[in-house]
Amino acid sequence: MIQKPRGTRDFLPDEMEQRRAIERRMREIARRWGYREVCTPEFEELELFTARSGEGIIEEMYVFEDKGGRMMALRPEITAAVQRMYLNEARVTPKPLRWCYFADCFRYERPQKGRYRQFWQFGVELIGADTPAADAEVIMLAHDLLLSSGVSFSLHIGHLGFMKALLSGMDSKEQRIVMRYLDKKDHEGLKVHLGRSGRSDLFTSLTALLECKSVNEVTEITGKIPEHVRIEETLGLLEEMGIPYTLDPGIARGLDYYTGIVFEAFANNLGAENQILGGGAYRLAHLFGGDDVPSSGFAIGFDRVMVSLGDFAGEPERVVGIVYTPEGKNHAFRVARAFREAGLRTEADIMGRNIGAQITHASKSAQFVVIIGKREQESGKVTLKDLNTGEQHELDISSAVREVVTSGPRG
Ligand code: HAM
Repeated sequence: MIQKPRGTRDFLPDEMEQRRAIERRMREIARRWGYREVCTPEFEELELFTARSGEGIIEEMYVFEDKGGRMMALRPEITAAVQRMYLNEARVTPKPLRWCYFADCFRYERPQKGRYRQFWQFGVELIGADTPAADAEVIMLAHDLLLSSGVSFSLHIGHLGFMKALLSGMDSKEQRIVMRYLDKKDHEGLKVHLGRSGRSDLFTSLTALLECKSVNEVTEITGKIPEHVRIEETLGLLEEMGIPYTLDPGIARGLDYYTGIVFEAFANNLGAENQILGGGAYRLAHLFGGDDVPSSGFAIGFDRVMVSLGDFAGEPERVVGIVYTPEGKNHAFRVARAFREAGLRTEADIMGRNIGAQITHASKSAQFVVIIGKREQESGKVTLKDLNTGEQHELDISSAVREVVTSGPRG
């Protein structure tokens, strides 16, 4: 039997209902903050993703040559695509642009629980704002979105300026290598690397930086960095708004485009793959041939949020089963339409079963059955049976619809 590709998942209806319920909550929060949805292609020119990160990233992507000989990649994330779209379509739109997306990404990873080759991100990009208020806004929104999902999480905030202050003697390529080690919390690797490049002196201050819990402690190690006032202002706003966070100067972020504040959130009940959100301030547009535009944003690993939440009961829904004898068939389909038009989930028999078997089947999901036989066909009425009470009576179609609509949702 053919199986699904490695690292992908199938979602059955129960799971899809749970996913959609959480997605709806997130969409609602994004809407309240003024973030409007955008959509970009699932695949892009490979160059869009290698422009910043180099050819090395190809290892981690689904890359293919199309029939026209162009190198393409399935998007490993959405930020670069959104920046490209901004340049192509919206460069002259008044700033700031507040955009959000809910979309799937593809990374060629070693699959495990919480790490997939196809996964979904709920993300936002705030384009064209470069202020402490903008930094604070995206973090507050990240917090609100995660809170709305019901997940239990901790928010960590850092700033690349801290590390960069310590690494200022290095070229940017070397800085990136060191930051990769820090991002992966690979201290052994970092030590070896610094030793090889003759910068062992940095090891103690870099690892001490990771232990700092306040901007003051950081400043003792790095000195006052140029962004000091801005960081204090951003954090001050978050504190004012009661957003709980941990200062984490060790956040380096895996992607290469960040420039300032960076943040991550971790689910409290997950093990290895517990990072459920990542983001920060970044600049990318200039790499795609456009004017530079300060931006910030983040993406929530939607699948990890779902793993963290575990199974939960979907929203209860009223279900109506339409059962009928052969003589009642035409009337039954008309009646079913009336119930659907009232917004009710309505399932009519299509298996040709006898009435008893139809009711047994309907009762697996429905709270009401509408019975239609020869008598109902002739009178134009229906028999409505409440499966919870067992009561049934004959009434006209609109009264039956009204009775079900006003019955309230049942589990
Ligand atoms: P990222 O940290 O690479 O950032 O991904 C964001 C989130 O996606 C991660 O925190 C994680 O929860 C989830 N994620 C990543 N890889 C996988 C995977 N293989 N399986 C399941 N979930 C995964 C970005 O992608 C940036 N574009 C975020 C951003 C937006 N920065 C600025 N704007």
